[in-house]
Amino acid sequence: MRMVDVIQKKRDDETLTKEEIQFFVNGYTDGSIPDYQASAFLMATYFSGMDAEEQGYLTMAMASSGDQIDLSAIEGIKVDKHSTGGVGDTTTLILAPLVAACGVPVAKMSGRGLGHTGGTLDKLEAIEGFHVEITEEDFVRQVNDLKLAVIGQSGNLTPADKKLYALRDVTATVDSIPLIASSIMSKKIAAGADAIVLDVKTGDGAFMKTTEDAEALAQSMVAIGKEVGRNTMAVISDMSQPLGYAIGNALEVREAIDTLKGEGPEDLTELCLVLGSKMLIAGGKAKSSHDARKKLTKVIQDGSALELFAKFLEAQGGNAAIVENPDLLPTAAYQIELKSPTTGFITKMEADEIGVAAMLLGAGRATKEDHIDLAVGIVLTKKIGDSVKAGETIAIIHSNTEDTLKTESLLLKHIHISQHSVKRPKLIYKVMD
Ligand code: URA
Ligand code: CA
Repeated sequence: MRMVDVIQKKRDDETLTKEEIQFFVNGYTDGSIPDYQASAFLMATYFSGMDAEEQGYLTMAMASSGDQIDLSAIEGIKVDKHSTGGVGDTTTLILAPLVAACGVPVAKMSGRGLGHTGGTLDKLEAIEGFHVEITEEDFVRQVNDLKLAVIGQSGNLTPADKKLYALRDVTATVDSIPLIASSIMSKKIAAGADAIVLDVKTGDGAFMKTTEDAEALAQSMVAIGKEVGRNTMAVISDMSQPLGYAIGNALEVREAIDTLKGEGPEDLTELCLVLGSKMLIAGGKAKSSHDARKKLTKVIQDGSALELFAKFLEAQGGNAAIVENPDLLPTAAYQIELKSPTTGFITKMEADEIGVAAMLLGAGRATKEDHIDLAVGIVLTKKIGDSVKAGETIAIIHSNTEDTLKTESLLLKHIHISQHSVKRPKLIYKVMD
C-alpha cells in the first residue's frame, strides 16, 4: 500500500477501508509515514469528511496504538463519562461517587488538563495526601471493593492521537468533526470504557460554539460508539456561562462536596442528575430516567454518596476530613469582593473570559510545565438572569497576590449588566442515545 494513494482517495471524497486507515495510523505512529503526507491526509479528511464506519476504524486504530487498560476483572459495566470541556466544570468529582454509590463501577483514568483550571486530577490533588500513582492491580481491587478508584493516565495512552493532535494543531485541522470525535472516543476506549456518556458543551466557553456543531459532534461520537460496540449516549449542555459558581481547583472541590450534600448550585446539580441518570441506565442500574433520578437523589439525601467519596479519598491516601471540614482545603491569602458598578440584571457572563481571569490568578496552566496554584480562583455570586444592585458583590476573587487588578477588570468587562432582564439560558439542549 502507498500513502499517496490513500491521500488521493480521501482527497477525491472516496470511502477508505479498514486496512487503509490502519496503514495510515500505524505508519504515522511508527514514523514510516512522514509529517507532510499525514498533513495532506488530515487536510483531505477536513474537506471530504469520513462516514461512521471510517470513523470507527480510525477510533479503534488510535485506541490500539498504545497501552490499553484491561478492566475485565472488574464486575459490571464500566461506564466512563467525558466532557468536551468548559469553565468551572466540576461534574466528574460529583458524578463519580454519585453513580458509584448506586452500584455502577467507576474506574477512572484521569490526566492533568490544560486550560482555565486543572483537570480532575489537579482538583483531587488539592486534597492533602491524595495520590493517583497506584498499580493497575490495586486500581482494579479498589474498584471491586469500593466501586470507585482514580488512576493517573498512562504516558503511552493513544500515542497515535497524541502525535496526530500535535500535527492538527499546526495544520489548521483541529476543528474537523470526524477527527475530534475519533480522538475523544479513542482515548475513552483505550481507558477501558464499555459504555460512554458524553457531555458536549455548547456556547461561548465551549470548544463547539454553536448548538448545531455540538450536535454534529455528539452525533458522530454516538455513531462511532455504535460502530465499535460501545453503548454511547450524549447530552448537549450549556456553556454560555460558567457551570456552578466556583472556578478554581480547591474551590471546585468544595463546590463538589456541597453538591454531594444536596446543597450545590442548581445548574451543576441538575447537570449531574441528567448525566448520572444516563450513566445508571448505561450501567444497567436503572430502567428509566425517572428511576435513575430517584436512585441518585436518594444517595445524596441519605449521605451515602458523600460517605463513599470520603472512603475513596482515604483509600488513595487523601485526608477524608475535608468532607466534614472543607476549611482544611488550601485557601488563598486574599479574598477580594468584586462589587457591581451599577444596578440592573446580569445578561451575559462570558465563560471563556471568566476562565482566563481565573487562569491569571494561577488556577490553570497554559503549557504542560506551568505550575498551578490549587487555592486560587473565582467564586461567582450571580448567574445570568439574576438582578444586582450597585455595590453588591458579584464575585469573590481568591488570590495569593494582593494585586488582582487584571482579574477584576476582565471580570467587569465580561460580566454584562443591563437595565433589561433576560431569561436564564437553557441548561440542557438535547439528550441523544
Ligand atoms: N479534544 C480531544 O481530545 N481531541 C480533539 O481532537 C479535540 C478536543
Ligand atoms: Ca463550577
